Amino acid sequence: MTDTTSADPEEAQAVAMATQPPADKQLYPAVAMYGPCNVFDLEPGKVKLWCRCGLSKKQPWCDGSHKGTGITPLRWQVPPQPQRLYALCACKYSADPPYCDATHTNLPCQVLQRQGACLNKDGHDKSTKLCTGCGWVPDF
Ligand code: FES
Repeated sequence: MTDTTSADPEEAQAVAMATQPPADKQLYPAVAMYGPCNVFDLEPGKVKLWCRCGLSKKQPWCDGSHKGTGITPLRWQVPPQPQRLYALCACKYSADPPYCDATHTNLPCQVLQRQGACLNKDGHDKSTKLCTGCGWVPDF
């Protein structure tokens, strides 16, 4: 594995700045999957809760796993026109949630750099549910 840790504080800060979460996010979510969740035949007009934290075991939907992280689900109303397939974001970094916008294609390197530069990384262990400072989760 590549060492993404930087001993240079200025470089570490530059990496952190380059990988800031999207403007509408205060906290970094976990990456549930580097690719979209394909969901079929949703009921038009139905309200769904899209998982924004990345921890749900029922992707792309919220299962309550976000509790205690400070991240809350996105309330999304299925558009009125019937549609067979919805490609919904599972990396949680789309600029157009809940839809996949292909952000996941360039995300793996950014995630590794951000986690290597995380100021809280000494606290990354099995007891950590999600480090919202960088999106680190155990056993990913
Ligand atoms: S489980 Fe992820 S937002 Fe609720």
